[in-house]
Amino acid sequence: MQNQYDIPAMGFGTYGRNGEAGVEAMLVALETGYRHLDTAQDYGTEAQVGEGVRRSGLPRSDVFVTTKIRTSNLREGTLVPSLRQSCETLGLEQLDLTLIHWPSPNNEVPLPVYIEQLAEAHALGLTRLVGVSNFTIAMLEEAQAILGDLRIANNQVELNPLLQNKKLANYCTEKGISVTCYLPIARGILGGVPEIVDIADRHEATPEQVALAFEFAKGYIAIPTSGKAERIRSNFEATKLTLNAEEIRVIEGLDRGQREIDPAWGPDWD
Ligand SMILES: NC(=O)c1ccc[n+]([C@@H]2O[C@H](COP(=O)([O-])OP(=O)(O)OC[C@H]3O[C@@H](n4cnc5c(N)ncnc54)[C@H](OP(=O)(O)O)[C@@H]3O)[C@@H](O)[C@H]2O)c1
Repeated sequence: MQNQYDIPAMGFGTYGRNGEAGVEAMLVALETGYRHLDTAQDYGTEAQVGEGVRRSGLPRSDVFVTTKIRTSNLREGTLVPSLRQSCETLGLEQLDLTLIHWPSPNNEVPLPVYIEQLAEAHALGLTRLVGVSNFTIAMLEEAQAILGDLRIANNQVELNPLLQNKKLANYCTEKGISVTCYLPIARGILGGVPEIVDIADRHEATPEQVALAFEFAKGYIAIPTSGKAERIRSNFEATKLTLNAEEIRVIEGLDRGQREIDPAWGPDWD
């Protein structure tokens, strides 16, 4: 389950995985088979991710690590030093993927200012791939025009059966931009959706596994998280679940545009 950038489709989200309990969760994830950890400058989990990778004993090259640039590091002259700091906190020489966490609220910092710094970070070797998060189609087009030959490898957006973000996701797929789903299991509320429970029962699976299997079938990457070892393991089992065309069609029909993360300063969503 790989995409054009070899980003492991099953990733482990690390929001909330702070402190020693966070490191323990990373270790469970890596022992289970996750090979992709998603952190951010804003999560306070970069140190835990680095520690988890080291303690796991896995070669660095076996684990795909993403971080995201926080909004206060978008201003001229701040992004590159902040990414150097992220590398230091992680104890890694290079990120696999660095994302702009959010477009600058109300365009306070013009998009070219931070996209050019992202390209500079790539040229300096601080990150292997570059991408964005919470970007609209118009923003993706503006950013790609600035980056030229350096491709936007990824757009990380809220996406699950209740918010399928079809227009944006189809655009990304068409343009060769991989899509990462955040809130991929809708924070555990899918057990209340009868159609999903039905499909889950048929496969002796959980509603969360069904959501993840759906996202993988669409070619997306997903980064669920949990602080509980059992759930970390059970979510990973979704990599072995294949839904049939009819089940995928049923889930496609469940889109309610139900967005959970929608700050007032966020972009005008597609
Ligand atoms: N780019 C962005 O702006 C952005 C925004 C939000 C999130 N993210 C990323 O996306 C990741 C995932 O998002 P998220 O954590 O908000 O949402 P999520 O992964 O959809 O849901 C996580 C929640 O669901 C629960 N859960 C996990 N497995 C479960 C299961 N099998 N059954 C029932 N409940 C389960 C967890 O509780 P327990 O811990 O109690 O199991 C946790 O509260 C984050 O960690 C972060 O890396 C990115």
